[in-house]
Amino acid sequence: IPADARPADDAVPLVDISGGGLAETPVQQAMELARVHGPVFRRRLNEHEHLFVSSLDLVTELADETRFSKGISKTLDYVREFAGDGLFTAYNDEPNWAKAHDILMPAFALGSMRTYHPAMLRVARRVMDSWDRRAARGEAVDVADDMTRMTLDTIGLAGFGFDFDSFGRATPHPFVEAMVRCLEWSMKRLGRTPGADHSEQDQEFERDSAYLASVVDEVIAARTKSGDTSVDDLLGLMLGAAHPEDGTTLDAANIRNQVITFLIAGHETTSGTLSFALYHLLKDPTALRLAQREADELWGDNPDPDPTFEDIGKLRFTRQVLSEALRLWPTAAAFTRQAREDTLLGGRVPLRAGELVTVLTPMLHRDPAWGDNPELFDPARFTPEAEAARSPHAYKPFGTGERACIGRQFALHEATMLLALLVHRYRFVDSAHYQLRIKESLTLKPHGFALSLIPRTPAD
Ligand code: HEM
Repeated sequence: IPADARPADDAVPLVDISGGGLAETPVQQAMELARVHGPVFRRRLNEHEHLFVSSLDLVTELADETRFSKGISKTLDYVREFAGDGLFTAYNDEPNWAKAHDILMPAFALGSMRTYHPAMLRVARRVMDSWDRRAARGEAVDVADDMTRMTLDTIGLAGFGFDFDSFGRATPHPFVEAMVRCLEWSMKRLGRTPGADHSEQDQEFERDSAYLASVVDEVIAARTKSGDTSVDDLLGLMLGAAHPEDGTTLDAANIRNQVITFLIAGHETTSGTLSFALYHLLKDPTALRLAQREADELWGDNPDPDPTFEDIGKLRFTRQVLSEALRLWPTAAAFTRQAREDTLLGGRVPLRAGELVTVLTPMLHRDPAWGDNPELFDPARFTPEAEAARSPHAYKPFGTGERACIGRQFALHEATMLLALLVHRYRFVDSAHYQLRIKESLTLKPHGFALSLIPRTPAD
């Protein structure tokens, strides 16, 4: 909103970054601003002003669905240029949000994970085949690239019955490259210098988004050609399922938006989560040992076990490792809330109806509620006792309320299984003395993270 339409709120520091501009890593830049200016600040960037918040007390208020709902930030509005009214980017009051949500929910009930389990395991085996070959040649793997291969193949096979075959190619699938450029285009657009010429980037974006749409058409055509209308995976529900109450189905334009949304949201963040978890295990031999012990208890010395659906629920420590990795580096690092009415946040920050507030999740996850050493990786923060003792609003890697992540169980089942299989099978060697650097393409991933592997023997 224009600055003069806003009531004065001297309580909130205004930080103008127009001089230096938006960094290549806007989340890490905003984290730095929060460290300097505190857990609530307004960032000015040319003509845009935006409120960022990261303390537990204020996020607790923002999570109140009677006062706030999901907000579509400027950046998400740019994502809408290629994901349209798909679930992630739909406005709350767009009828297609509730309709698609109701139709697709059954695909994410806990029982559905049992259906996806075999596809997830099949792709986990692709990772291990590829890593075995690398290990035999003494070569390191690029963790983030391979985790992206694995999560793309998994959502493709489990959700759409479509095989991207990412391990069968030397370079990432072109879908990934076009998607990353589209995400970066949306992320950087806010930082454009007013009046500068961006036609080259915009043309590249048009080409990339047209390519993404062509992949969507290929995925849909493969299913339509098969003539199979009985499949009740995500694509089957999108193409055929009727709304449980009014019996309507999704229209063709919305189906395309949902396919693109799920192909992106269904893999990009899970891949970063696995990469951060592997990074922290590499640097924390005690946690790695505990994770290995847990997997060994289930699968003994068998280097090629056949994990059951039930096994995954028993991998409690492995799950804690993933939760802690998502605490330090929530891969979808911000979400935006919108005031339903004029209100006073924290009794001191006046907000107009419709005004947007962005939660900076990595800083919420470093709130004093997390103790004296929030930068330390410590999976014990997620024992059931520790979780019960903490406010649920201190941890929001999957967002909040009715617009929270629909794919949370999917991501956690997939990631827990793969992580346990990897620690069971390999010793991890930090041959490159890797120092964490984080790349941002709207989501967060470790950059240039090379890992060397040695197959474990029963003695390890
Ligand atoms: C929404 C994070 C995995 C599909 C969200 C939101 C967050 C998030 C923070 C809320 C965004 C907002 O409020 O603006 C994550 C993380 C994941 C993950 C950290 C992995 C570790 C997945 C997977 C799928 C998925 C595997 C699909 C299979 C979606 C969809 C929405 C969403 C469709 C929009 C829901 C709605 O508004 O109705 N996710 N996600 N996500 N996520 Fe995820």
